[in-house]
Amino acid sequence: MNDNFDIADWLEKIVEKVNRSLNFSLPSEDLKPFNLHKAMRYSIFAGGKRIRPAILLASAKACGGSIDRALPLASAVECIHTYSLIHDDLPAMDNDDMRRGRPTNHKIFGEGIAILAGDALLTEAFAIATTWNAGKTYTHREIISELSLYAGSLQMVGGQAVDLESEGKSISIQELKYIHERKTSALLCLSTRLGGMSADCSMEQLRALTHFGYRVGLAFQIIDDILDVTQTSDKLGKTAGKDIKEQKATYPALIGIERSKELATELTKEAFDSLEIFKEKGIILRKLAEYLLHRDH
Ligand code: IPE
Ligand code: IPE
Ligand code: MG
Ligand code: MG
Ligand code: MG
Repeated sequence: MNDNFDIADWLEKIVEKVNRSLNFSLPSEDLKPFNLHKAMRYSIFAGGKRIRPAILLASAKACGGSIDRALPLASAVECIHTYSLIHDDLPAMDNDDMRRGRPTNHKIFGEGIAILAGDALLTEAFAIATTWNAGKTYTHREIISELSLYAGSLQMVGGQAVDLESEGKSISIQELKYIHERKTSALLCLSTRLGGMSADCSMEQLRALTHFGYRVGLAFQIIDDILDVTQTSDKLGKTAGKDIKEQKATYPALIGIERSKELATELTKEAFDSLEIFKEKGIILRKLAEYLLHRDH
């Protein structure tokens, strides 16, 4: 593997693999309750970028592991992410009409079913994680503990709660960092860590992956905030300009677009530094971080 590694091509193959695995794992639309299963599949297969599964699988590769072995954990994280988006879009939260280029889940299925589809996807994540074949270092107990910590009230859900409570308020940059680290970095950290754990990583590798996930995650949300101001709804597949309208606490609102871009670039460079111990095996993670920094949607 060398520096000419084509990340777009790799991502395309990963999206296909992850979609196949999700299709296999999720209850069919022919199973009762039909509408609930339809709603779960509607959002999962609406064409997300699958960044968290990709980072998880690239982390497994960085530790010398196999993509096929890590795949159930990648699907589990994508279920948690998609549930978080369905709930994030609800009228009681960000009140969004468009997601992944389609009407939001509650616009099609109603708020009640959208809430339940989110609940069911979160639960399904744990069921899928149990189908993972444990190696010699980490057990299911550790995997479940990771999933519940990073998705729970101290991390992702906690970030979402403070994000909501901060609407319309002027908050400090420290508080904004607290929100972004939790609502977004948490699932990226979870992804790098589970990828490493699926490959029996060492403590030193796990620490490096955690630093990488944390920094790329923070950069990812800063870019998301920037794109909300600079891109069109068509390009994003979700309503642009929403953060200003809802008076959301964002990096561009607090420090401006230019400084936000610089910060995302600095974080990505710091993320590269954590990859040194992986030598040439860290190339996919490096290319992914670079790709995410320059993304336009
Ligand atoms: C959107 O995540 C929510 C954030 C945490 C910024 P993505 O930009 O990864 O959304 P999808 O999965 O591609 O739809
Ligand atoms: C969403 O952040 C974070 C989670 C869903 C956990 P945003 O509210 O900024 O995401 P978008 O912009 O709606 O995708
Ligand atoms: Mg939100
Ligand atoms: Mg939102
Ligand atoms: Mg956003």
